[in-house]
Amino acid sequence: MNPLIDKIVIASDHAGYDLKESVITYLLQEGYEVEDFGPKNSDSVDYPDYGVSVAKAILEAKANRGILICGTGIGMSIVVNRFPGIRGTLCSDLYTAKLCREHNDSNILIMGGRVVGKGLAHEIVKTWLTTSFEGGRHTKRIEKIEQIDEIIKRMTETVKIRGDV
Ligand code: RB5
Repeated sequence: MNPLIDKIVIASDHAGYDLKESVITYLLQEGYEVEDFGPKNSDSVDYPDYGVSVAKAILEAKANRGILICGTGIGMSIVVNRFPGIRGTLCSDLYTAKLCREHNDSNILIMGGRVVGKGLAHEIVKTWLTTSFEGGRHTKRIEKIEQIDEIIKRMTETVKIRGDV
């Protein structure tokens, strides 16, 4: 249990539903506060809807970490990494789970419900939740990602202004 984590928000699509339920049980056993953004069953849903809800909760500081699960983890990765300030990291092994915290300060863990088994997923979650960001040279690199966000924002504004002419 990492006492620095106040709350974890979690969601999936239908393909990640079973693993989401298992991860929630694991997190509660470990003593974490968890908010489940759904879905409530394994009926077919669209992963962007659920990815957006978790990304928004992190950006609005309703929780400091998020977990997302779809079939491969790819759809959720594409969705959340469109949001400036979100560093969503797809993990299928413990090394990546550790390094994405130490080097990338990951704030959303993404897994594939059709890729990893429950035992491995729980270990990935544990590693990801208990590993700290190293800072140092990695801070500069994250700042460069934030600079890219600013450049894209300005480019988008320019396109809008041109569109108005
Ligand atoms: C759903 O069939 C599947 O496409 C989805 O869970 C995910 O893997 C998308 O990337």
